[in-house]
Amino acid sequence: MYNITNQYINCFINRFPRRTYFIILIGFQIYGDSMTTSDHDRIKALSLEISRLKKERNAVLLVHNYQLPEVQDVADFLGDSLDLCMKAKSVEEEIIIFCGVDFMAESAKILNPSKRVFMPDPSAGCPMAHMVTADGLKKLKARHSDAAVVSYVNTTAETKALSDVCCTSANAPLICRAIPEKKIIFTPDRNLGRWTAEQVPEKEFILWEGYCPTHQLRVKLEDLLELKRRHPDALVMAHPECLMEILGHADAVLSTGGMLRYAKESNAGRFIVATEIGMVYRLQKENPKKEFIAMEGAVCPNMKKTTLEKVARCLRKMPEENEIALGEELMDAARKPLERMLEISRFAKK
Ligand code: 13P
Ligand code: SF4
Repeated sequence: MYNITNQYINCFINRFPRRTYFIILIGFQIYGDSMTTSDHDRIKALSLEISRLKKERNAVLLVHNYQLPEVQDVADFLGDSLDLCMKAKSVEEEIIIFCGVDFMAESAKILNPSKRVFMPDPSAGCPMAHMVTADGLKKLKARHSDAAVVSYVNTTAETKALSDVCCTSANAPLICRAIPEKKIIFTPDRNLGRWTAEQVPEKEFILWEGYCPTHQLRVKLEDLLELKRRHPDALVMAHPECLMEILGHADAVLSTGGMLRYAKESNAGRFIVATEIGMVYRLQKENPKKEFIAMEGAVCPNMKKTTLEKVARCLRKMPEENEIALGEELMDAARKPLERMLEISRFAKK
């Protein structure tokens, strides 16, 4: 509970002038305390039910780093998109409950098709993944027949099926360097694409014009500059889905998993976290002696759709409409670029 409170206190501290802190914090503390007991009881009861149901159903809970704190706390495995793909592939339990957004749950199903994969809220989609159309991509491929299609995992199964290889924010430069083609059609995130193109100058990039609304529109330069002014000693960690104007002020550009490693290894005591706000909870929990400052407006509404109530309901009822269902042919075609990405990443680690 301390960490949840702390995260939101940080948001308030960043928003208001110093003299108003005390009033807000006292008010927040009273509100927090009155909320804490009932919230704590609700979370405890649901968490216990979830852990009982998981055993009964032989289910595993895979959770992305942007999920709500209480959902992160019931995870069997918590990670970034790449970690979650690798984990999904090796899961032995019969059922995967995926707490994240649609493309992540689809990837889990594609990589481990004999498992049943459920989303606690199937309406949790990634808007960027839906910015690519199969028709548009086919046309672009026809215009650049010598190019390889590298698709961010934040894509639909249909887009993956038209791609040569996938990547995540943790391995995009590695993947683009590893493939033989000199020309790359990069979908869908133009920000990740532009940043990757800078890291891999020897290749030519054709960028799809997609973007993440949270990172592009809600991680704002003026907010970052204000936080830097207030905390001149803080290091800035930024996700490559942010605009170049943000990345230009970053000490490190990292996936969410990369941020965890960087923060743990760094000697610095304070970090500004330019990505979705959920990340701050895990960073703070795993590094209690360091301070993590959130970009307060950077909320992905889809990542916040999954609540403990919905996780418990999903395990209780296993509703048909919550289960990922994809055709065999589509899954076979979409698996190839995903497997190729995992293979390149595995090889690079050796
Ligand atoms: P990561 O792979 O860095 O966790 O990012 C996933 C995502 O959706 C970023 O917006
Ligand atoms: Fe998609 Fe952006 Fe939300 Fe990540 S943060 S799931 S890229 S909308």
